[in-house]
Amino acid sequence: MDIARTPASPDGNPEMADAAFEPKAPPEIQRSDYTPFAWLIPTIRMEFDLGLDKTRVVTRLDVERNPDADASPTIRLNGDSLELVSITCDGGDCAGHMMDGDDLVVTLEGERHTLEIVTELDPSDNSQLMGLYASNGMLCTQCEAEGFRRITFFPDRPDVLSTYTVRMSGPKAQFPVLLCNGNRTDAGEEGGTHWAEWQDPWPKPSYLFALVAGDLVARTDSFTTASGRKVELNVWVRDGDLDRTEHAMESLKRSMKWDEETFGREYDLDLFNIVAVSDFNMGAMENKGLNIFNTKYVLADPDTATDGDYDGIEGVIGHEYFHNWSGNRITCRDWFQLSLKEGFTVLRDQLFSQDMGSAPVKRIEDVRVLRGVQFPEDSGPLAHPIRPDSYREISNFYTATIYNKGAEVIRMMRTMAGEERFRRGTDLYFDRHDGEAATCEDFVKSIEDGTGMDLTQFRRWYSQAGTPKVRVDLEHTGNSATLKLSQTIPATPGQPNKKPMPIPLKVALFDRQSGENTGEELVVLDQDSAIFTFDGFLQKPVLSINRTFSAPVSIERDVSRDDLVFLAAQDDDPFARYEAMQELMTGYLVGAVTGDLDDAGCKTARGDIAQAMKSVIEDDRLEDLMRGELMSMPSQAYIAEQMLVVDPGRIHAEREALKADLGDRLASQFHALYDRVEGLPFSLDAHAKGARKVKTLVLSYAAASDPAKAAELAAYQYDHSDNMTDRQGALMVLAGLDSPERTDKLQDFYNRYAGNALVIDKWFALQASSLHPDAIDHVKALRGHPDFTLKNPNRVRSLYMAFAANPSAFHAADGEGYDMIADLVLELDPINAQTAARFIPSLGRWRRIEEGRAKLMRDALERVAAAPKLSRDTFEQVTRSLG
Ligand code: ARG
Ligand code: ZN
Repeated sequence: MDIARTPASPDGNPEMADAAFEPKAPPEIQRSDYTPFAWLIPTIRMEFDLGLDKTRVVTRLDVERNPDADASPTIRLNGDSLELVSITCDGGDCAGHMMDGDDLVVTLEGERHTLEIVTELDPSDNSQLMGLYASNGMLCTQCEAEGFRRITFFPDRPDVLSTYTVRMSGPKAQFPVLLCNGNRTDAGEEGGTHWAEWQDPWPKPSYLFALVAGDLVARTDSFTTASGRKVELNVWVRDGDLDRTEHAMESLKRSMKWDEETFGREYDLDLFNIVAVSDFNMGAMENKGLNIFNTKYVLADPDTATDGDYDGIEGVIGHEYFHNWSGNRITCRDWFQLSLKEGFTVLRDQLFSQDMGSAPVKRIEDVRVLRGVQFPEDSGPLAHPIRPDSYREISNFYTATIYNKGAEVIRMMRTMAGEERFRRGTDLYFDRHDGEAATCEDFVKSIEDGTGMDLTQFRRWYSQAGTPKVRVDLEHTGNSATLKLSQTIPATPGQPNKKPMPIPLKVALFDRQSGENTGEELVVLDQDSAIFTFDGFLQKPVLSINRTFSAPVSIERDVSRDDLVFLAAQDDDPFARYEAMQELMTGYLVGAVTGDLDDAGCKTARGDIAQAMKSVIEDDRLEDLMRGELMSMPSQAYIAEQMLVVDPGRIHAEREALKADLGDRLASQFHALYDRVEGLPFSLDAHAKGARKVKTLVLSYAAASDPAKAAELAAYQYDHSDNMTDRQGALMVLAGLDSPERTDKLQDFYNRYAGNALVIDKWFALQASSLHPDAIDHVKALRGHPDFTLKNPNRVRSLYMAFAANPSAFHAADGEGYDMIADLVLELDPINAQTAARFIPSLGRWRRIEEGRAKLMRDALERVAAAPKLSRDTFEQVTRSLG
């Protein structure tokens, strides 16, 4: 039966339906409203007749009443921008159905039925990149969180699990490769059309559905699992990209092995496919047996990918692979439980990367992301607990809080339990909930039962937002040291008052003379305040606290610069050394910006920092990779986080001044370091990576102290490099300088990589994130570059995310940067709402910025809010940011 496109409201009034179609305030969905779905859909069969402009989908659902849910006279099938061609029930007319907004509601009597639904899609017209869309002549899907409802009408919620059989057919010349979840069970061809049938034996929610059709080639390999199952592995890319897939394949095999060894998790199909697509909203997606990846997280060779890109690929391949157990075998009951799979899977990918490379360096990188992205989120208008209580658009909750803080919360349980006991907890979780759609509570209960810990109070980490502040004081009397700790958790939207949470802190006390400590201890602060006493210290020891960043909190303490210099030079925890260097520099910069330090004070502080930096440069026991971390300055965002009201211009100026001062004072040490490591042949081992890291750091200090010399050295590095890390590092430094080399090398880079989208993204990003005083004008000009397009999220991010994260450009005092982002959001919102909404948080920080700029930021937000038609995504972020 055919149905017109006009959505009819329940009472049949099309006027009203239109109002409901584009509501100004989309409804808020509450976690407490969860009820199980009234129907089960044990099996689903889909037939896709594929075409770029027209794809026809026939979906057959076997539905039966859910004995564990309240009975309902209707079944609600979600839709989003769908055209219903026809619907039948048990092979006949389906009289009782109507549209309710975008959803299809069918009246059903009796116990079980078969519904057959036909929809028609235009994948080329799908610029939102959710559902089925065209990218570079191929077809692919993205269904998490709510993309499946853009393909067919279905209860698009993660607790409805079905077994899928999918038949795909299409022109063979255009789509020689046809892929779907599970195993291919049959295939054939007739004339120019071919088809393939796929079956996924594992019941799954709709968000894990995927298909791909296109002209692709594969790197093929295999992995034999612990129990002897031979799995075929493929990494599918466009012709010409095959020689850039080796690292992805190696990362996949390492992930499979690691998950068996570390978490006892084995792969469960005979086939594992990864497909790289260039138009993708996020990093990658864990669809069962058919992971779809942003090309950025697949393609790499030394000429086009940096060391950071290589690490990113290993981490994301691991992440998506690990989801096969933490996400797919055990999925989420509802989207409020998102951190159940994301937090846990981020922890798993972090531990994997720690094991594959340098564990302390990986830990530092992860903490940097947490502090640079999640802490600001937690202290701003968009703060939410890792298990939120409400949302309007779930895409807005794929946040650093759900992912990264979620991982930290589980990491704390692991720290308190110890590795072995924690493993008993995760074994129990996987065993107990395999095949289910579970909750965060199910996870915590499993860890509790498996480890024997009491996590009653710890559960507050799931419900309370905000970064706890821990005040630390160390006192010394007689021969004992007294550690006084107290915690406060700042108010966040909707949560004015907080209760204390258990905060596990690793501490060590160092003897000032010997430089030795008495052994690391774990103290757990679970009250508002507590006192811990340590005996056997004739002299006041030096305190090292929150070692390895054992808790995601911010530490407040009065610590002498002498102690920090001591820890920076000799703490045996590399993270704590890094932390001491950061504290040393941050303390100085905050003092200089706020005026708390007078000129004389500033001078001594800079001297101390230089002394600490010098020991770092000259410490020959240090690996260069770690040395690079110790030499890195705190980011402008991190410094800003330490202040209540921020003047971005002042932070930038003081930070550059410190860089210049260190560059001056340590010029000969920096150059000796550069000379020592330069000329090392390219390899991906830690040694060579470390060399590349410190080289570019030396260039950036030189750029602040002696720009002409730095330009010369950077140009030399650019010309003589045989890899992207050195070349991009040199170009990054040049991009910030006003020198003839800047123009030359930027042009050279563009010419050299024209046509390589991922490298051209770097070219845009380098200019948008540069320290050049005219960066804002460069961004404006690049907006008009023929290679710029709003249709490709990687390109949009490479120009505008880089810009919004570049404080000295974005925070131009006249507000021009804010206007540029508001303009972008308004233009991008109808094209790709998910990507547009991701730019709102940069403007939402206004409360923490000095008055003049704060007003301009609000004005920009209000201009967005006033737009006559906004996506749910942008509407929610803008209203929360202004609120
Ligand atoms: N589950 C994916 C991952 O973290 C991300 C999917 C994001 N989808 C979205 N619509 N925001 O690996
Ligand atoms: Zn994930």
